Amino acid sequence: MKRSNEPLIDAAAIQQRVAALAAEISTDFAGQDVVVLPVLKGGVFFGVDLARAMTVPVQLDFIRARSYEGDRSTGRVEFSIEPTVPLRGKTVLIVEDILDTGRTASAIVERLLESEPEAVELCVLLDKPAGRVVPMSPRFVGFEIENNFVVGYGLDYNEQYRQLSAIYTLEER
Ligand code: XMP
Ligand code: MG
Repeated sequence: MKRSNEPLIDAAAIQQRVAALAAEISTDFAGQDVVVLPVLKGGVFFGVDLARAMTVPVQLDFIRARSYEGDRSTGRVEFSIEPTVPLRGKTVLIVEDILDTGRTASAIVERLLESEPEAVELCVLLDKPAGRVVPMSPRFVGFEIENNFVVGYGLDYNEQYRQLSAIYTLEER
């Protein structure tokens, strides 16, 4: 499997959208204690660019969620890295690369609510609404895309392509 030659979303379009989202989030969350929480590994590139473009002070932490091997249909998710910044009373902004079935994000929200934050909000770079199994509507969405497998800007195929600045579709051969 190889990536397409032409990007689906080019680097300039991504950075323009990141700036717009950061401005919107900064306005909405002004005066709140915000924790930006990228989901490892895919959400890191987006999350860090987003945090850098925000004009309100934020704390940064990470979470790593993994679907149980061979048990995807039950949507059981385990957390191998958890935030260490105290989340009680904070506005926690989960930053994900892509929302597909919604299983990962809904499990993360459930886990974070146990820490009694003020609010848990979800920001995804890409939304594939056609893939949704668990109802989830993120508060902040970068781009809605068709139900294709995509790589780049954090998204991988077998751990490749994450470092690309644009988003590409994956092609046979
Ligand atoms: P769910 O289905 O739980 O999945 O919403 C979200 C996670 O599934 C992976 N995923 C993708 N990864 N290109 C990728 O590189 C894709 O097109 C894609 N669709 C889903 C990803 O790990 C994401 O966090
Ligand atoms: Mg991911």
